[in-house]
Amino acid sequence: MNAKPLAIVILAAGKGTRMKSALPKVMHALAGRPMINWLLDTASALSPQKIIVVTGPDMPMLADAVAPNQVVIQMERNGTGGAVRCALPALTGFEGDVLVLLGDTPLLSLRTLQGLLAAKQQAGISVLGARLEDPFGYGRLLMDDEHYITAIVEEKDANEAQRDIRVVNAGAFCIDGARLERWVSQIDNRNAQGEYYITDLPAIAAHEGAGTKAYITCDGDEILGCNSRSNLAALEKTLQGRLRRALMDSGVSMLDPETVYLWHDTQIAPGCLIEPNVFFGPGVRLDPDVTVRAFSHLEGAHIESGASIGPFARLRPGTIIGAGARLGNFVEVKKSTIGAGSKINHLAYVGDCKMGADVNFSCGAITVNYDGFEKHETIIGDGVMVGSNVNLVAPLSLGAGAFIAAGSTVIEDVPADSLAIERGATRKIAGWAARHRGMKRAAKGAKS
Ligand code: UD1
Ligand code: CA
Repeated sequence: MNAKPLAIVILAAGKGTRMKSALPKVMHALAGRPMINWLLDTASALSPQKIIVVTGPDMPMLADAVAPNQVVIQMERNGTGGAVRCALPALTGFEGDVLVLLGDTPLLSLRTLQGLLAAKQQAGISVLGARLEDPFGYGRLLMDDEHYITAIVEEKDANEAQRDIRVVNAGAFCIDGARLERWVSQIDNRNAQGEYYITDLPAIAAHEGAGTKAYITCDGDEILGCNSRSNLAALEKTLQGRLRRALMDSGVSMLDPETVYLWHDTQIAPGCLIEPNVFFGPGVRLDPDVTVRAFSHLEGAHIESGASIGPFARLRPGTIIGAGARLGNFVEVKKSTIGAGSKINHLAYVGDCKMGADVNFSCGAITVNYDGFEKHETIIGDGVMVGSNVNLVAPLSLGAGAFIAAGSTVIEDVPADSLAIERGATRKIAGWAARHRGMKRAAKGAKS
């Protein structure tokens, strides 16, 4: 293990030009959370003395996202070597190991970083490498037989033979803090991009007889960098796979895991079953043994044990679904509490509602919660029967055990155990349908 004190520098000043976005690159989200925060989680798990994040000017949002870690600003974006140079004043007097990470490479695992720190014990620097099928765009590691690096060559500076090398620079460097400043000050910008490259360090250290050891990870996915929107999508895919695996390992079943999208804060208890094509947005919590059926969309909802949601259900923020409740297809619930055992089985809208236990809310019934200006609340007591195609015009209160007849538009409170019915009498005209058909057929015959 790493005995020396550790400081971590995260390079995140790049504009991310290839992302074509006003948002700093490392603020782009993975599972709904900025990529920089995923990396900070892993970095913090190494228990460093300090973490320094190098940002660009005018990135207040990024500084907020990484607080309370120290931020230094790189005024001129002149390369990864230039970014490390900006962090030097914040490291004055620090003589431990300095781990430099790229903010746009957020999925490195803790184990891999521990391996990289351990490799540093045999050298002045250790560099994380990976063997890739398609190394395009990455710097290539030039190594001897014992995995000591003689040089790192960027794609744009590489000759044809070097481009054939499949072992790439993943971007993580662990460097002897006592010599960092001296080595970094020797980096120049004589290369294809006219930038100061951190990747020059192995050659500089070699001049002093200090070795650079490569630590090669076998997991090509964890070293994925984010330069473009399609890289971002690839990172998302990798992260979603990890989140789903963690849930399945904890006892959650997924019929077709690849089609389930999770938010970073999704909580699903053991014993839950998630059918295909389900979207979890922010703030969803499922208690044990909940079933979420196919094609449901959930945000800001707490679902208590044994409840069943969907298929094709939509839960919006502020929703609590009680134990054993059942929501069926094409049901939308917003900012409402649904009591235990209640059933809303088909085609319904429930908004701003406090619904008791064992309510039956039938097909096509809705709360009319919005008058064009304000939202109003509907209160439904335990055991109420709301018939099909009922409009409950809020504000409204239905007493426990009330019965609302199908088709009624209810605009006044209903006392407990009463019937509310609002309906015109049905007129029946004998023989009308037969006469109507006869007329229509005759008219059609005359035309043809
Ligand atoms: C870099 C490496 C390359 C490696 C790849 C791994 C260099 C010269 N190249 O290339 O060898 O294979 O990462 O993904 O290091 N940054 C700053 N200030 C700057 C420039 C960049 O803070 O002036 C930050 C960026 O915000 C980014 C990171 O450094 O998070 C990497 O920069 P980027 O331009 O993406 O480097 P690559 O071309 O991907
Ligand atoms: Ca990059």
